[in-house]
Order: sequence, then structure tokens, then C-alpha cells
Amino acid sequence: MQSHSETILKTSRLVKTFGANQALTGLDLEIKAGENFGLIGPNGAGKTTLMRILVGLLRPTSGSVEVLGLKPPHPSIKSAVGYMTQGEALYPDLTSRENLEFFASLYGVSRDKTRRRIDELLDLAELSDRRESLARELSGGMKRRLSLASSLIHEPRLLLLDEPTAGVDPELRLAFWEHFKELRQKGVTLLITTHHLDEAIRCDRLGLIRNGGLIACGRPDELLARAGCATLEEAFLKFASGRVHDE
Ligand SMILES: Nc1ncnc2c1ncn2[C@@H]1O[C@H](COP(=O)(O)OP(=O)(O)OP(=O)(O)O)[C@@H](O)[C@H]1O
Ligand SMILES: [Mg+2]
Repeated sequence: MQSHSETILKTSRLVKTFGANQALTGLDLEIKAGENFGLIGPNGAGKTTLMRILVGLLRPTSGSVEVLGLKPPHPSIKSAVGYMTQGEALYPDLTSRENLEFFASLYGVSRDKTRRRIDELLDLAELSDRRESLARELSGGMKRRLSLASSLIHEPRLLLLDEPTAGVDPELRLAFWEHFKELRQKGVTLLITTHHLDEAIRCDRLGLIRNGGLIACGRPDELLARAGCATLEEAFLKFASGRVHDE
């Protein structure tokens, strides 16, 4: 297990604008090694933009960002970070196995390891019997499982999961969260976005994001206590309305 004191990810006054549109408005965030951190917030709040900056796909307009002590895009970040995007990231005309092989080659995973990881991950994703099915022929939930498996092929230390359980049935959502727990126990740090607040409550810490900035951050029980609410939905609304002042 990794030490909880090591900072894995840090942003400071992070701003990203697209023309006149401000996606991130001075976001301060710090995540420690081994945490399962949940980011929740409404559509357009800036969650995906943050993830794209963390992996180096977008450059910040201003402010600073560090991932594993390095400034994105840095080649060492790529080999240590897994990213499950919000949209479809699979190659529809490749089979399940070929998709995993392709992601392994992108990350420079050795042939022997690729073979072993593919067997492990297809088993984990319960897709061993769909090994030779084309990705486009898989159901929505199967595609999410294969996307998650793809993001894990190189055994990343930090995993960025952008709405991994969107459109996923309740049973599979539970299975995903069990798996996130196992990854965390292995020392993997997770940053997960979700609109399912019943899931978010399972995170070690939560950041509530709105209009491109964090309006509250803390352990789920702390946030509920601070807002004086029984549910995260109520707490979020209260923080969003400014009736609670996050110290
Ligand atoms: N490439 C882009 N060009 C222009 N505007 C963009 C681009 N990407 C994001 N935005 C804008 O930035 C803002 C934040 O979008 P983002 O995708 O980060 O939100 P989100 O929190 O992930 O939302 P959702 O919950 O719907 O996925 C939105 O107003 C969006 O329209
Ligand atoms: Mg998004």
C-alpha cells in the first residue's frame, strides 16, 4: 500500500477557457496517493475538461497542474495514468482482444505481459466468451467493461474514470465499485466522476464542482455534517446555493 501523504495530483488556480466560455475558473485540487476521490457536479461544470488537462490533451489557460510531480503532457505521465473517457473510446471494428492489444501497444506493454493482462482483464470484465466479438457488436454495458479493461492494461498508478458507470445497470455498477475498491486496496489512486450520488458516497473524499471551481471538498460524512444534511443531493444544493461556507 502506498503512503497516503504523497501528493499524486495537484492543481492550483487552474483556468481553462474556450473562447468566451470559462470551463475551469481557478480550480484548486489536491489528491493523495491511494485515495478514491469522487468529483461530482452538474453537466458542463468542468469535470471532463479537468481530466483532459490532467492527461495532457488540453493545455491550461492559466494556473498550474502537476500529475505525479510532473507537468502534463510528460511521457512518464502517460505510462502511469489510465484514462477511461466519457465517450466511446473503443475501436468498433476491432474485437475485444484486439482493442486490448491495441491499447497495450500504445502504452508499450511487452508481448508476454500483454498476453497475460488480456486474459486477466477479459476475465475481470466477464468478457472471456466475447474475446473475438467485434466491439461494435457488444452491448452498452459490455463496452463500458471493455473500456475500463483498456484503461487498466498497463497497470496504472493513477486511474481517471469519467462517468464509468453512466448507462450501466445496477448490478454492474456495484461490480464496478467492488473493482474500484480492489484497485484502491492495491494502492491505485482513483479520480472518478459520477452523477450517481449513491455511488459518490463510497469515495474517500469528494469534490463538489460547479461553474469550473470547487465549492466544497471533504469526506462524504464531513460534507453532510457541514451542510447539516442527510443526503448528498441536499448537501450539494445547499453548497451550490452558498448557504454553507466551506472553510
Ligand atoms: N472543446 C471544447 N470547445 C469548446 N467548449 C468546450 C470544449 N470542451 C468543453 N467545453 C465547454 O466547457 C464547459 C465544461 O465542459 P465539460 O465537458 O468539462 O463538463 P462536464 O462537467 O464534464 O459535464 P458533463 O457532466 O455533462 O460531462 C462546457 O460549457 C462545455 O461546453
Ligand atoms: Mg463530462
